[in-house]
Amino acid sequence: MEKRWWKESVVYQIYPRSFCDSNGDGIGDLNGITGKLDYLKELGIDVIWLSPVYKSPNDDNGYDISDYQAIMDEFGTMEDFDRMLATAHEKGIKIMMDLVVNHTSDEHKWFIESRKSTDNPYRDYYIWRPAKEDGSLPNNWGSCFSGPAWEYDKTTDMYFLHLFSKKQPDLNWDNPAVRQDVFDMMNWWLKKGVDGFRMDVISLISKEPGLPDKEPGINGYATFNVSANGPHVHEYLQEMRQKALNNADTITVGECSGVTLEEAKKYARSDEKELNMVFQFEHMDVDSDEKAGKWTTRKMDLRDLKKILTRWQKGLQDIAWNSLYWENHDQPRSVSRFGNDSDEYREISAKMLATCIHMMQGTPYVYQGEELGMTNIYFDKLEDYRDIESINYFEEFTESGLMTPEHMMKCLMLRSRDNARTPMQWDDSKQAGFTDGEPWIKVNQNYKKINAAQQLEDPDSVFHYYQKLIRLRKEKDIIVYGEFEPLYREDEQIFAYTRKQDQEKLLTVCNFSDKNAEVEVPEEFKGAECLITNLGRKEFEGKIVLNPYEAFVLYYKH
Ligand code: GLC
Ligand code: CA
Repeated sequence: MEKRWWKESVVYQIYPRSFCDSNGDGIGDLNGITGKLDYLKELGIDVIWLSPVYKSPNDDNGYDISDYQAIMDEFGTMEDFDRMLATAHEKGIKIMMDLVVNHTSDEHKWFIESRKSTDNPYRDYYIWRPAKEDGSLPNNWGSCFSGPAWEYDKTTDMYFLHLFSKKQPDLNWDNPAVRQDVFDMMNWWLKKGVDGFRMDVISLISKEPGLPDKEPGINGYATFNVSANGPHVHEYLQEMRQKALNNADTITVGECSGVTLEEAKKYARSDEKELNMVFQFEHMDVDSDEKAGKWTTRKMDLRDLKKILTRWQKGLQDIAWNSLYWENHDQPRSVSRFGNDSDEYREISAKMLATCIHMMQGTPYVYQGEELGMTNIYFDKLEDYRDIESINYFEEFTESGLMTPEHMMKCLMLRSRDNARTPMQWDDSKQAGFTDGEPWIKVNQNYKKINAAQQLEDPDSVFHYYQKLIRLRKEKDIIVYGEFEPLYREDEQIFAYTRKQDQEKLLTVCNFSDKNAEVEVPEEFKGAECLITNLGRKEFEGKIVLNPYEAFVLYYKH
């Protein structure tokens, strides 16, 4: 397999609004990030994926961009950005920007022009349609944030398409001028020295010709995935590769909603004509409901999770490259979701989850606070929520009678994106050391127990466990490149797999349950060395009984 630095890297995602506030206005900022680069260096990560820092009216916390070449006022200035980039580079840390080009803000100058008249030069930068003959919406597509994906604009008596909020109109990628403007903007950032891009919902950029009606979901609208993997998406990404990405040595990951394994083989193929890797979502849907999607209180069945991750590990082997993640700014906290956030098991299960994902083949992503085992916040009042998705769906589902307010609140507590967006817990001082002011969203009150300062002191902390996993990846090639093979596929408690490469092999065993679990260590690992374990086990031969959430990794060289 081709060796590449981006395969050997570990990426850390920063959600700037919630990371570190340097000036007391309650909002994280660029200078706050610069001040914490040593912390990230200590953790050992190689690349930062920076969620959007561009100028934005913040309808969707920066994923609605009004100027791609300027910094959001609340986050600082372009000088602050340049200083952060230079300091990161001095420390050997790369910066991957969030590229949000499926849509812009409605306050972007392109859209301001576009909506003025049907013959404006920017008209075709967006997707405008008249009502159907009977006066109904152009089609039945829904917004990812509830309601229809069409907004009426009276100036020209037409609707524009927005797969996300109505302040996020979709760009028309079929227009070559749009593509050229996007590539020029990317080149501007590459010239500045940024190291790559995480591409927001990039699988949605090519819309099906004719924009046909699709099978409606629970609220009467077809989901935004209707336009996933459209007819020209690969062509447009290849053009992006040639006209922008190839101008530098970049790392690229596409957020690919609705991506299938077959499609991923095209997006992330090893011939490097499109992207380096994709974020797939099948394992994030493992606890979804067939009808209500993520708005459910369902728990996953471990066998489903294993089936999905195994399919991706084996499916992309030698063909394309995987990204590995449990968390990001759109998902609840993994220890609360797939582990156990009780006092008894939080640390152990956070380490188990880390072991499970970091020993697979692919590039691991750590989301801020995951390395501390930060938990869901479980807000039980709508007024505490800040996220547009949570608030909109609560209103839509309860007003239409689809769900009772009590049930919907339970769903938000488990699934809201705000669970990941509470401020980073730096220490046990007021507001967890995130800000001297009033934070834009409440700090999780467990910060006295769970915070970075305390974990940096404790050699057994979740932080140091992540640090060790990251270090192991640098020491052992097999962790990056070895071939994955699952074990005990039908076991309901244990996720186990091997990795093999030449004379070396690895065995990873994780107990995902709060009960003891019996497992047979394969003969071929007799006498193997233990690389890491979360409970200090010493015996690894024959039949053993694992404690709740116990995990270990064995290494054997012939
Ligand atoms: C992506 C982002 C999410 C955002 C959406 C619209 O899914 O990760 O946070 O709301 O795209 O840009
Ligand atoms: Ca600030």
